Amino acid sequence: MYRSHSCGELTSSHITQEVTLSGWVQKSRDKGFMIWVDLRDRYGITQLIFDEERTPKTVFETAKTLGREFVIQVTGEVIERVSKNPNMPTGDIEILVKELKVLNASLLPPFTIENETDGGEDIRMKYRYLDIRRNPVKDSLIFRHKVTMEVRKYLSEQEFIEVETPYLIKSTPEGARDFVVPSRMNEGQFYALPQSPQTFKQLLMVGGMDKYFQIVKCFRDEDLRADRQPEFTQIDCEMAFVEQEDILNVFEGLTRHLLKEIKGIDIEKFPRMTFDHAMKTYGNDKPDIRFGMEFGELNEVAQHKEFKVFNSAELVVGIAVPGGASYTRKEIDKLIDWVKRPQVGALGMVYVKCNEDGSFKSSVDKFYNQEDLAKWAAATGAKAGDLICVLSGNTNKVRAQLSALRMELAERLNLRNPEEFAPLWVMDFPLLELDEETGHYHAMHHPFTSPKPGQLELLDTNPGDVKANAYDLVLNGNEIGGGSIRIHDKEMQAIMFKHLGFTEEEAKAQFGFLMDAFQYGAPPHGGLAFGLDRLVAILGGQETIRDFIAFPKNNSGRDVMIDAPAPIDDEQLKELSIKLDIQA
Ligand code: AMO
Repeated sequence: MYRSHSCGELTSSHITQEVTLSGWVQKSRDKGFMIWVDLRDRYGITQLIFDEERTPKTVFETAKTLGREFVIQVTGEVIERVSKNPNMPTGDIEILVKELKVLNASLLPPFTIENETDGGEDIRMKYRYLDIRRNPVKDSLIFRHKVTMEVRKYLSEQEFIEVETPYLIKSTPEGARDFVVPSRMNEGQFYALPQSPQTFKQLLMVGGMDKYFQIVKCFRDEDLRADRQPEFTQIDCEMAFVEQEDILNVFEGLTRHLLKEIKGIDIEKFPRMTFDHAMKTYGNDKPDIRFGMEFGELNEVAQHKEFKVFNSAELVVGIAVPGGASYTRKEIDKLIDWVKRPQVGALGMVYVKCNEDGSFKSSVDKFYNQEDLAKWAAATGAKAGDLICVLSGNTNKVRAQLSALRMELAERLNLRNPEEFAPLWVMDFPLLELDEETGHYHAMHHPFTSPKPGQLELLDTNPGDVKANAYDLVLNGNEIGGGSIRIHDKEMQAIMFKHLGFTEEEAKAQFGFLMDAFQYGAPPHGGLAFGLDRLVAILGGQETIRDFIAFPKNNSGRDVMIDAPAPIDDEQLKELSIKLDIQA
């Protein structure tokens, strides 16, 4: 028996008991005649004491050789501590050690295994197994486990069945590049790893599975960000014989259950907002509604004056920054520099200080009088003491720029409280999105999404105006899930592919299996997928998903611990009939 108890459970009620513990040496203090060792395992830390007088000599000698992270097993008596530590669950006791076995020695770890470590990101990634010993990472993984357990419990109780779908498949069009896997037995042919199980879950509906879910790995070869990994996990769900309202209710229920069980928060009904409204009011399809600073469009009140920049702009739009009137000239200049950074891309920013006495002072006083500026304040909801920041230009670009500024200011003003949760459904997404570069439309969600009833005719005349039965679930300004009601009719699916620029042959080659299945009694169906990593991170009060993944990739998509990706040897390439043509 390696242990009778864990390192986190002994209290004064165990005093006089003989116990055996196993774990890692967190640290050791050697006072010559007395040695204290903090022994750590997943459950906590227990103090061990080796006393020259009371501990057998050989045990005492061995204790002197213990280094950090040695794995040891000890047996001894639980005794009352002289100086108690009220901050530790085991702080009332210590173990007077009688027997000590070194189960494994350890090299000195390259960073300290403490809550606050001296190790930088790179080194911690390389030695991720050591990082996992630290409480913040360990706790994040345990937290993730709790969330997935609650998801499985809730969905199972609602009669959802978890079904696994294959990883070696053909391309699924979710908008990113595929990771591909060469097939040895089929020369020159490749599998694609799923970007999502989208087509399979639809086939499960044709198969009559009715309510499906799967906690499943998805793979997307796309540029990485704090909230993106090349392999990530979805809670993927699909239901048959449902309308959009049914789906929203079920998954609002799931999210509400998680907020209640994991965070102890009750949220009654999630607000809903159309995509158009979100773009107009927040410049963004995933607005953070924990705070205001809503957009005020100023075209009517700011154009047709002498200020040429605004007159030639498609959109003039501003936000009111609470308390911003007190910013110094220098602070405002810095803010202007911030919006002009290439990552944001604004050409400049006009501002108006709303003074406490009700007057206004703006950077465009030459062109606008107090009456004009009062109208700006009314449109942006600015109060005395606020600063109005105004951008202008191409509608889509300006909205994105002002949205970035809104989020940045909210961050600076501490308006993004991680312990406050503001879920939101964003609905009625456009079916298609124009690719400005190619001039072609592509599916905004994916090609299996159905247009809203009665909008099919618009596809020919105004494709950009067609709305879809598609929705996203947003939490604190992050898209944590998205889905749609699907097309379940072969003809309709064929029309969709045609509008997306597929020839009939291409559609058949890529998705013939799905179109075939639709001919055999496909039920009406729809669903959604949550990004589990994102959901867990946000519930955990963070936005970086990496800390909630046991073995994540770095920003270049590398696993620096196992050193992947890596070249494969010539023999393997030959077997796969692959010839490399890499220019040095
Ligand atoms: P979508 O592409 O919106 O929909 O993905 C669903 C959710 O997955 C999360 N997500 C990611 N998380 C981490 N890293 C990534 N690279 C990444 N990409 C996406 C997001 C997102 O909301 N098949 C459809 C769902 C459906 O229609 O049912 C799909 O995959 O939180």
